[in-house]
Amino acid sequence: MDFDTLTPRKGTHSVKWDMMQPLYGVSPDDGLAMWVADMEFRPPACVQTALEKMLAHGIYGYYGDDAEYLAAIQWWMKTRHGWDVDAKHIFTTHGLVNGTALCIQAFTEKGDGVVLMTPVYHAFARVITAAGRQVVECPLTLNDGRYELDIPAWEARLTGRETMLILCSPHNPGGRVWTAQELAQIAAFCARHDLILVSDEIHHDLVMPGRKHTVMAHIDGVADRLVMMTATTKTFNIAGAHTGNVIIADTALRMRFAAAYNAAGMSANSFGMFMATAAYSPDGAAWVDALME
Ligand SMILES: Cc1ncc(COP(=O)(O)O)c(C=O)c1O
Repeated sequence: MDFDTLTPRKGTHSVKWDMMQPLYGVSPDDGLAMWVADMEFRPPACVQTALEKMLAHGIYGYYGDDAEYLAAIQWWMKTRHGWDVDAKHIFTTHGLVNGTALCIQAFTEKGDGVVLMTPVYHAFARVITAAGRQVVECPLTLNDGRYELDIPAWEARLTGRETMLILCSPHNPGGRVWTAQELAQIAAFCARHDLILVSDEIHHDLVMPGRKHTVMAHIDGVADRLVMMTATTKTFNIAGAHTGNVIIADTALRMRFAAAYNAAGMSANSFGMFMATAAYSPDGAAWVDALME
């Protein structure tokens, strides 16, 4: 990993640099673009090579036959997170904001409340509100610089109109890697209030040395209300690939999601599929290991 070479990005249609002035009135020559989780370094050579192969071929048609891509996801989840994923449970979306928006369509009705553990990644509230649902804030408590759950306070906030909770695990912006015990408490809260639990685990590969991310799918008793979301894009700094996964083990939930997915006319972005397949590989894993040293 090369942290020293600076690749200039201003004027390259980079949202964090080229939208800083229009959105915030700060010139990119004066400001530091730290408002989007999109970094300044290149992905591993395996991702670059996959794109170079596409360019050399020079044909950019529709993507088909996702067996290799699905196998790469299964391999990554098994080897990096000890999680067995059935390939039939995977839906590929145009990133996880898109995945969240599809979950809202699939599992909630207009006017429903969607619970967020705030402060949390801003786009959740944006898509909830844009879909005509209500954001229900359940604030995290800041104790000695560490965000913690406050489930008794949350119980008092619910009105009975909530149908979904969106969890950010690990937590953005708090940086917390939730413990298995905390995740079990969140799962029990969802069960008590009959909430679908959407677990956005986009940052799951990026935890500090000595910490361990727990996959929500490993928590007992949650499978029948759980929707998992993962992506290569934060781990490998390839957010422009706009490719992520919604993984649903429960058949009834999967059918509801499939209906929303089909209604939205979803299909794969071939650039993202090639990049993600290349990233979830032994070379990609070695690159992440070096990054986390
Ligand atoms: C928790 C979380 N989810 C989703 C996203 C964005 O996902 P995507 O680019 O796949 O839509 C971000 C981006 O920072 C994020 O922090």
